[in-house]
Amino acid sequence: MIANRKRREGGEPLTMITAYDEPSARFVDASGAELLLVGDSVGNVVLGYEDTLQVTVATMEHHIAAVARAKPRSVIVGDLPWMSYHVSVDEAVHNAATLIRAGAHCVKLEGGANRVSVIEAIVSAEIPVMGHLGLTPQSVLTMGGFKVQGKTADAVKKLHDDALAIEAAGCFAVVLEGIPDVVGASLTAALQMPTIGIGAGPDTDGQVLVFHDLLGLGNRTPPKFVRVYAEIGTVITEALTNFVGDVRGGHFPSDAETYHAPKEQPTR
Ligand code: KIV
Repeated sequence: MIANRKRREGGEPLTMITAYDEPSARFVDASGAELLLVGDSVGNVVLGYEDTLQVTVATMEHHIAAVARAKPRSVIVGDLPWMSYHVSVDEAVHNAATLIRAGAHCVKLEGGANRVSVIEAIVSAEIPVMGHLGLTPQSVLTMGGFKVQGKTADAVKKLHDDALAIEAAGCFAVVLEGIPDVVGASLTAALQMPTIGIGAGPDTDGQVLVFHDLLGLGNRTPPKFVRVYAEIGTVITEALTNFVGDVRGGHFPSDAETYHAPKEQPTR
C-alpha cells in the first residue's frame, strides 16, 4: 500500500513518472513505476505553455482518459489544475470527481494549511488525495518565479506546519518539490505519509520525474535535479531527418514497402 511506504520502515523507495497519453502511459507501465502522474506539467511539456496556469479541468480530463485507456498497472494520479480547487470546496469535490471519472485513482493538489478544508472534503467523498509542497508551480506568480523554497528558518517552519496540516487532513502522500536536501529529509522524518521528491534530495521516500525531462524530449535545458536517462529527442530528430532525406532522394518507399496489384489488374 502506497500510504505505508516509508523507507525508515524498510519500504522500497516509491517511483512516480508523469505520462499524458496512451503511448507514454504504456511506457511508464512497462517501467514498473508504482505511480503514474498525469501532471498539469502537460501544459509545459505537451502544450507548449510557459507555466501550468493555462491548464483546465477539461484538459486534465482529456489526458487522464487517454492514459487510462492504456490500462496501466500503476496508480494513476490526476493533477487538479489551478483554479479547480481554489474557489469553493464544492467545486473542488466536483472537479476531483471529474478526474476520477476520467480514469484517475486519486488526485493531487498543491498547498498546505490553506487547503485543509478542500482536502478533507475530497477525502470524505472517498477520493484519495496526494499533497504537493515546496516549489508549487501553480503559485508561480506569488512565488515570483520558479525558485527553490524552504531556504529560511521561517520558510522551513511553514513547510513543516503545512505538511503536518495536510497529513492530518487526510493526504496519503505528498510531493516535495524544489527544496534543499536537508529540508526534504526533515519533512520525511516528521511525516507518517510517504514523501515523493522532485528536486528535494535523496532522502525522501520516493522520487518523481517528468517523462519528457528524463527522456531528453524537452525544448530547454532541464533543471539541476533532472537526470536525463536517454536522448530520445536526438533519436527522433535523426529518424525524421532520415525519412525526409530518403523521400527527397527517391529511396522511400522501396519495392518491399509498396503494394503490388495482380498483373492482370487494370491500373485505370
Ligand atoms: O505536474 C507535474 O508534473 C508535477 C510534478 C512536477 C510533481 O506536479
